[in-house]
Amino acid sequence: MKTSIKNICCIGAGYVGGPTMAVIADQCPEITINIVDVNEQRIKDWNDKDYSKLPVFEPGLENIIKRCRDRNLHFSTNVKTHISEADMVFISVNTPTKLNGVGAGEASDLKWVEACAREVAAYASGYTIVVEKSTLPVKTAEVIKTILNTSNHPSNSERGRCSFDILSNPEFLAEGTAISDLKYPERVLIGGENQQAIQALIDIYKRWVPTEKIISTNTWSSELSKLVANAFLAQRISSINSISALCEVTGADIKEVSSAIGFDSRIGKKFLNSGPGFGGSCFKKDILNLVYLSKQLGLQSVANYWEGVLEINKWQQHRISKIIIEKLFGTISSKKISILGFSFKANTNDTRESASISICKDLLNEGALLCIHDPKVNFSQVEKDLEDFPTSQDKIYASEEKKLNQGKWKFTKNMEEVFEGSDAVVVLTEWSQYSEIKWENVVSKMRAPAWVFDTRSILNSDSVINSGINYWRLGDGSNI
Ligand SMILES: NC(=O)c1ccc[n+]([C@@H]2O[C@H](COP(=O)([O-])OP(=O)(O)OC[C@H]3O[C@@H](n4cnc5c(N)ncnc54)[C@H](O)[C@@H]3O)[C@@H](O)[C@H]2O)c1
Repeated sequence: MKTSIKNICCIGAGYVGGPTMAVIADQCPEITINIVDVNEQRIKDWNDKDYSKLPVFEPGLENIIKRCRDRNLHFSTNVKTHISEADMVFISVNTPTKLNGVGAGEASDLKWVEACAREVAAYASGYTIVVEKSTLPVKTAEVIKTILNTSNHPSNSERGRCSFDILSNPEFLAEGTAISDLKYPERVLIGGENQQAIQALIDIYKRWVPTEKIISTNTWSSELSKLVANAFLAQRISSINSISALCEVTGADIKEVSSAIGFDSRIGKKFLNSGPGFGGSCFKKDILNLVYLSKQLGLQSVANYWEGVLEINKWQQHRISKIIIEKLFGTISSKKISILGFSFKANTNDTRESASISICKDLLNEGALLCIHDPKVNFSQVEKDLEDFPTSQDKIYASEEKKLNQGKWKFTKNMEEVFEGSDAVVVLTEWSQYSEIKWENVVSKMRAPAWVFDTRSILNSDSVINSGINYWRLGDGSNI
């Protein structure tokens, strides 16, 4: 019997749930999609008439929301009603690393996923396909299945018998390019046991994804593939970052090395840019998950191997902080250092695990006065991320503040403020507008000898150097 999906409920209106469902709604106008979340503010923001308030910034997302919202895409806090109406429920909630108890610091905390499974068990009616969209440890589908099949359905008699199939459909989108990744995915992966349920999901994707790009596997291969894909991507970043340090002390240049090795088709050209270390909510958490799984299964050497990827990442961030301090005569106390970029990469407002957080904290601990700029991140997010470090309300750091020798930060959306009295500017996110700075126009505003640290290799080095500013670029050993 063919299952045709007419109503979808997605639990979790975050960076994955929001854009993913928006694209499905756009491509399948006959399917009604309700995205539900327990976070009332988030739902309010998704429903805001002012589109600049949408809680997720992704190029192209706003236009889709304009087309689909209140047509066949709805944002709501009414979890119960929308689960009960749905033929298919996507679970797209957060799965952060556990902070306490068994597996703390490594295993995924599945309490939000478990809560979803219990809600589906309580409210679903008839036959429902449950889709794991969150990234999950291998065998989570088993847990969901057990909850769905053993929970008491209080109103079973009213709703008729409930039955479920579970699919794994991990999301491979990258933040910053989420909409184009969703519209033109390199593959869609569907893991499951029941062919009819798999086909129902294939029928949705095949509306816009070529069928040869829709792969189906068993459930466990699908769950594991997502963790492995992220681990491989993170490993590539740590690999090139480890070489960036080697370049700086040997006279080689990481840009030239990346380009030279990228010509080998077995290596490939993509994802070979060195930088301040990977961030985002996924890479670290998913590797930790793989490490935990390997340890649990007695594969200590496998766990050690993947732990190394995380160690290099942390090391790269602290290494950059140390270089900044060293270049500024070994002390940055009361010096104004401007940070360009706080999101973990360009074209997103997401700061989770951003290298900027750890580098800013290092510099604040040394007593620096930071001026942080980001075009999409807002003040309150920076405040959350920098926790206990005090902020300054002054437009420019007053001399009184300088005497205190205490690390402070302020946030600005105004580029003019960035350069005023700065000893150094550090580029940490590759926002394209930073590559357009006219250094010859700002040099006189900075305090000499001024420095620019380019951890993303996006600046025109000649323009910086010709303006008389000292220039340091990650992985550039050509001046030793
Ligand atoms: N962010 C990415 O780039 C990305 C990419 C691929 C996969 N993933 C995976 O997708 C999952 C979601 O990630 P995200 O970045 O969208 O997370 P997020 O934190 O942005 O969003 C998750 C949302 O789920 C909501 N939620 C939690 N429990 C709920 C419940 N019981 N009922 C209703 N709402 C609930 C939260 O309030 C939150 O708004 C994670 O497993 C992540 O690893 C993320």
